[in-house]
Amino acid sequence: MRNNIVHPGADELVYEIRKIVEVGENIEKTGVQIVWDNIGDPVAKGQIVPQWIKEIVAATALGDNASYGYSPTKGLLATREYISYERNIEGGAQITPDDILFFNGLGDAISTVYDYLNKSARVIGPNPAYSTHSSAEAAHAGSPHITYRLDPKNNWYPDIDDVKKQIAVHPDISGILLVNPDNPTGMVYSQDVIRQLVEVAAENDLFIISDEIYSNLCYGGVTHKKLASVIGNVPGIALRGISKEFPWPGARCGWAEFYNRDRDTAFARYAKTIVDAKMLEVCATTLPQKVLPLVMGDARYYPYLARRNAAFWEKSQAAHSILSAVPGLIVHKAYGAFYMTVLFEDGVLRKGQFLKPANETAGTIVEPLIESASFDKCFVYNLLASRGICVVPLSSGFNSDLQGFRITLLEPDITRFKNTLYRIAEAVKEYLASN
Ligand SMILES: Cc1ncc(COP(=O)(O)O)c(C=O)c1O
Repeated sequence: MRNNIVHPGADELVYEIRKIVEVGENIEKTGVQIVWDNIGDPVAKGQIVPQWIKEIVAATALGDNASYGYSPTKGLLATREYISYERNIEGGAQITPDDILFFNGLGDAISTVYDYLNKSARVIGPNPAYSTHSSAEAAHAGSPHITYRLDPKNNWYPDIDDVKKQIAVHPDISGILLVNPDNPTGMVYSQDVIRQLVEVAAENDLFIISDEIYSNLCYGGVTHKKLASVIGNVPGIALRGISKEFPWPGARCGWAEFYNRDRDTAFARYAKTIVDAKMLEVCATTLPQKVLPLVMGDARYYPYLARRNAAFWEKSQAAHSILSAVPGLIVHKAYGAFYMTVLFEDGVLRKGQFLKPANETAGTIVEPLIESASFDKCFVYNLLASRGICVVPLSSGFNSDLQGFRITLLEPDITRFKNTLYRIAEAVKEYLASN
């Protein structure tokens, strides 16, 4: 090419959660049956969307001609009125429909939020991280994502001292990201932790982004506190969506709530840029916006979520009891979202550890990949080739310096779920003893 056409952040765009599928599919072709536990799609994992939700969607899609049209750039007014009303009655930050902007899923929101941030402004995020955030932020800056530690010895809570330290070392940090409930750890932060992050933001004149896509998926006795409950006067953005809750990831529907735009002119200008960018795209998908208040406002909605949450809690406890019995692993129960992070203790992973592959070809598929892979990725490839279980390594999948992997709590059949966990536990023991 006459000029360099490659984006400076091109190498930062890594989404291991889907990339690992290529390897899994090749192994599947050799006759190994794969348990796909890499992706957070409840529908793909067999979750049946309730009939009453389908009936609302069908009636709205088939019966209402307006569902086929564009919507206003920010989103349908009636839906934004519903969301702002629900937000305001919870207390905390008060918003109007004007403070809400719809996107084609939070993936779209996430890339837009970082794309339109000044190139030199950085947002610090958690480690381990949900990679759509960390990759998009890194790509925007053309440089690796700056992170703060989630502490596995303290329930995966953010290490506030590390947040402060990083902010002091990197004067370009302009915002703090938290994902709560968290992907990949399944942890739900206390209100006090969120308040401490807000205080750090206030002290350093930063804004906050809180990804709350799992805010209604909490269990085990915890209640989720939103950023809005403690944000005070600090400028912030909360991100929410229906992909996980309904669950309807194929709808591509999520939204941003802007808090305290009136408190900071630069933040207000930044928020306006995001709205203007969406205007260039015209609008987000209309049908799911029309459906949203009808589903969330239905008397059956919260009892339905309560039943799902009870099932996640049962699986969280089962996974914890099976995996915490394995020497060399650190696991915490999940209290939100539908993931758990399984961490290898320092020093237990070594070069040359292996599991016997299910067949010779499966072994030859992963062999060249293992040569240059991180220790946790080596385990993940071995697990795939040997047991046909597809999970995501922590290091490359979640932008982390920790060694481990993420599992999901999505398998609807508890017996099959436990069986997979027992097989993982046995594979870990065999792997760690192999060299
Ligand atoms: C924390 C988090 N944020 C955002 C998303 C993206 O969701 P969406 O389907 O709305 O693009 C996901 C998807 O897994 C997620 O885990």
